Amino acid sequence: MIQREQLMEALQPLIDPQFQKSVVELNLVRDVMIKEEAISLSVITTSDDEGYKEEAKAFIADALGALGASQVHVRFRLMTDHERGRIEQEMGGHQHQHEHAAQSQQKPVQPPIDQPILGQESKVHFIAVASGKGGVGKSTVTVNLAVALARKGKKVGIIDADIYGFSIPDMMGIEEQPQLVDNVIMPVEKFGVKVISMGFFVQDNAPVVWRGPMLGKMLRNFFNEVKWGDVEYILLDLPPGTGDVALDVHQLIPQSKEVIVTTPHATASFVAARAGAMAIQTNHEILGIVENMSYYEAKDGTIDYVFGKGGGAKLAENLHTDLLAQIPLGAPDNHISEPDYSPSVYKADSKAGQLYLEVAEAVIQKLEK
Ligand SMILES: Nc1ncnc2c1ncn2[C@@H]1O[C@H](COP(=O)(O)OP(=O)(O)OP(=O)(O)O)[C@@H](O)[C@H]1O
Ligand SMILES: [Mg+2]
Repeated sequence: MIQREQLMEALQPLIDPQFQKSVVELNLVRDVMIKEEAISLSVITTSDDEGYKEEAKAFIADALGALGASQVHVRFRLMTDHERGRIEQEMGGHQHQHEHAAQSQQKPVQPPIDQPILGQESKVHFIAVASGKGGVGKSTVTVNLAVALARKGKKVGIIDADIYGFSIPDMMGIEEQPQLVDNVIMPVEKFGVKVISMGFFVQDNAPVVWRGPMLGKMLRNFFNEVKWGDVEYILLDLPPGTGDVALDVHQLIPQSKEVIVTTPHATASFVAARAGAMAIQTNHEILGIVENMSYYEAKDGTIDYVFGKGGGAKLAENLHTDLLAQIPLGAPDNHISEPDYSPSVYKADSKAGQLYLEVAEAVIQKLEK
């Protein structure tokens, strides 16, 4: 079988048009998948020029063909400003330094954020929680998986990327606002999880009506302007469906993995498959499926499959991934009077709390093995 190193060596001569350096050296060849003689990969480009892409594609097909590949699938993704900035910084180009100097005269100098969580060197595991349709428990799963990872001793953050329908602060019972320290936003911490949400930045729960580019910008700020400190896992609560935010997240964090949430109903899992298809198309590994609202267990132990049966398992099979858990119906046993009240966080010793600990363990196994 073709080895990754061979492949990289073969692609060495491909030069990026802007930086005039090998795409391999610039680390622009990503998502390499080698399955026997079939190879698929992504190239991050600095140019949207179709001519360049055609040429690059032909070069890659030839170079990998020479190694024995019979099928070569190449995708292109335009470099984000953040990635571009990082490369420029690494290359330390004179021109860029110039721009930098000019900029810093206008703006107050931003203190450096100690760990660029999106950077190439970043060891942060990103997990996007997605679903095909709304209301299946995506945010509930995000919150409880994050808390379970923290209970297992991990350093965890949540980005509430559901910028229209932010709900994480309320679900976790967060009442504070993030602090601004030296012009950097400090996430709010609860149950050992650092949280950032659009909900912190709107007044009186006002609906957010931004569209398009503003969304992406907000999301980028959540990564770049927030002091995440020493995190190991960041979970992203995506808005339902496969819209622009989901796409933005996929592009912004090409390394992110995915957990897909569905209910056991056949239609729900069918719709969830779309979110799965998007993950696969954009080359994001699916860590597994969480089936939520799987059944209702009455006090006498009888089990009622209120929303049908088998949707999660079927989805896992279709997407060639694992069914990580089946979470029963039931609200957390929390009380407003408790000091740590939060409407959506299950206690560690509850049935659902235990199941989330199992999901956390499975995720850790998959990501840290
Ligand atoms: N296992 C469960 N048992 C009972 N209620 C649940 C369960 N999971 C989630 N819920 C409730 O269902 C509702 C929807 O859950 P949640 O907000 O997590 O879904 P979502 O997929 O994030 O929705 P949206 O698409 O609106 O973002 C919430 O009121 C939540 O408390
Ligand atoms: Mg939600």
